[in-house]
Amino acid sequence: ELGGYPHYMLKEIFEQPESIRAAMRGRLDRDQATAVFGGLNLDARRLRGIDRMILTACGTSWHSGLVGEYMIEEFARLPVEVEYASELRYRNPPLSSDTLLLAITQSGETIDTLAAMREMKRKGHPVLAICNVVGSSIARESDGGVYLHAGPEIGVASTKAYTSQCVVLALLALHLGRLRHLSYEAGLRIIDELEALPEAVERALESNDVARRIAGLYASCENFLYLGRQYNFPTALEGALKLKEISYIHAEGYPAAEMKHGPIALVDEATPSVFIVPQGGVYDKVIANMEEIRARGGPVIAIVDEQDERASAIATEVIRVPAVADFLQPIVTAIPLQLLAYHIAVLRGCDVDKPRNLAKSVTVE
Ligand code: M6R
Repeated sequence: ELGGYPHYMLKEIFEQPESIRAAMRGRLDRDQATAVFGGLNLDARRLRGIDRMILTACGTSWHSGLVGEYMIEEFARLPVEVEYASELRYRNPPLSSDTLLLAITQSGETIDTLAAMREMKRKGHPVLAICNVVGSSIARESDGGVYLHAGPEIGVASTKAYTSQCVVLALLALHLGRLRHLSYEAGLRIIDELEALPEAVERALESNDVARRIAGLYASCENFLYLGRQYNFPTALEGALKLKEISYIHAEGYPAAEMKHGPIALVDEATPSVFIVPQGGVYDKVIANMEEIRARGGPVIAIVDEQDERASAIATEVIRVPAVADFLQPIVTAIPLQLLAYHIAVLRGCDVDKPRNLAKSVTVE
């Protein structure tokens, strides 16, 4: 069952090129330069009438929602908010009936996500779900949605479901964009970039040995910071959560520039900062943030593009991943962060697949 891997988590990390292919299979339409879905159950007219979206989820799925927010705003120019389902279910935000709720969940059974969805449905909002488990409660109760087709995820720490959620959100952003102002050329370019993704993820997995070596250097640290900006801010949150839940090390994710507003006080020689710093619009800014950490003696582990020079020159340790379009960076950069968390947890003797105090799906409030 484990196919030669010591843990489900590692097996699932290595399945990602295939799970990402599965998330895209049959959904890219080059003729129309868009993404197509079988089960949205909302026609083009209804989708064009949507004036705002609320994405709701818990944990790692909430992080993919944050990535989706940037994607939908960029491609579809729709206002998006991302809400913790546990908060949304007890809030009563004033919303027009043209606000669409999108629930994101691996299991389809997370009670807070289900309750938030029911509450929005009661108020007459159209409700879609991105879900992995076919026939789950959330899949059944939503008006329509998109399955991840990632296959069973056994490890409590979500890995392949997360990257598949990001892919499906990109497809959805493309679909919504093409119903609005996204041009044919822009749609085709996004499809090209998506089609190149599985191979980029395969190459990102080659960072396994480097991640294991770096894990050996820092496994005894008790605090980590994870820092990134724009598309890589959710990646910082996700990297920190992965480390926290399986290795029991205290880790915090922040937008890199926020560190000056408090977290930089934590920096010392025993507190590594993991920077997600691929090339892109905010590259120079993140480098400046890295320099501030180095100036205070903090070790920096940098996730950079294969060809990177400037960020790597400042970092203490470097993990290289293939360069991809900005909106796909969260997927490619998540891979070494999953591997880093995995190897640190193994070195600390933790039960990687079944971390203490956690259940795979949280079905009680
Ligand atoms: O099944 P869901 O996606 O609804 O689960 C949501 C969270 O409970 C889940 O992502 C949790 O945070 C994971 N353990 C993270 O790895």
